[in-house]
Amino acid sequence: MKIIKTKKGVQKEIARLRRQGRSIGFVPTMGYFHEGHLSLMRQSVRENDVTVVSLFVNPTQFGPKEDLARYPRDLGRDSRMAREVGVDILFVPSIEEMYPEFEGTRDKGQGTGKACAFGRVPCPMSRVTVKVGPIGDVLCGASRPGHFDGVATVVVKLLNIVTPDVMYLGEKDAQQVVVLKKVVKDMDLPVRIRTCPIFREPDGLAMSSRNVYLSPTEREEAVVLSRALREAASRIRSGERDGQRIISEIKKLILEGAHASIDYVSVVDAVGLSPVRRISGNVLIALAARFGKTRLIDNITVKVHGQ
Ligand code: PAF
Repeated sequence: MKIIKTKKGVQKEIARLRRQGRSIGFVPTMGYFHEGHLSLMRQSVRENDVTVVSLFVNPTQFGPKEDLARYPRDLGRDSRMAREVGVDILFVPSIEEMYPEFEGTRDKGQGTGKACAFGRVPCPMSRVTVKVGPIGDVLCGASRPGHFDGVATVVVKLLNIVTPDVMYLGEKDAQQVVVLKKVVKDMDLPVRIRTCPIFREPDGLAMSSRNVYLSPTEREEAVVLSRALREAASRIRSGERDGQRIISEIKKLILEGAHASIDYVSVVDAVGLSPVRRISGNVLIALAARFGKTRLIDNITVKVHGQ
């Protein structure tokens, strides 16, 4: 496995592989790999000649009070794990490599201590960014304004650098998948998107790099999220069609089972993310809740046939 730190280095390597007619799969990540990431990488390795993984903790998708500075990082461990599953290229750019206009603004910090999350706070430079519009303002976007513009901007940049045939995304970030599918479609980007199911711990907790922040008690209580979603799905399968009742039931279960504060619980149409009052078709039940300082997300999709 090659570890490459520069855009030019990746582009040169991709050009060489393309001359040999190789297909390229791409997994964008922020590192601190878990089985969820590895499942995306394995899928890409199975389906493509070459797998490229990017590891970049993207400052523009973090708000000024979010966890950019403390986001878990361990390049040694990550590169071992990526090599073991058969990744060919690990692209590990610096902030300056991805955002050259950032040069010299480090430690003007804006509350993060380390880096200015300049997608979401004023910064002394201007640059072109992707604006995803209203689809980025609902669910997670409501409490993380600008987050999906930051995600879309970095992913478009990464796609332009790596030029993969297929990009692999995890369904745990359901809104991210919907937003990035729309970006790819609306901007005519020549890449297919493949999604992989949520990877869960044996007790049901969705795997996330942020799970390491949880205290033992929070970790134990966090299982309530997946349990509440499963129960909601089963109520829908047994005939419940009232979106609001499902939301109330999930909130009740979470608050009874954990010392958590709920950011949102929503029942939305799985394609356009618009709220669903009367459940029918393909619905996404998505939620976010805070356990101490840790914000966790989870979701489940339910298909309802007929009325
Ligand atoms: O899902 C993530 O880890 C990030 O949002 C992504 C897609 C790598 C963009 O920074």
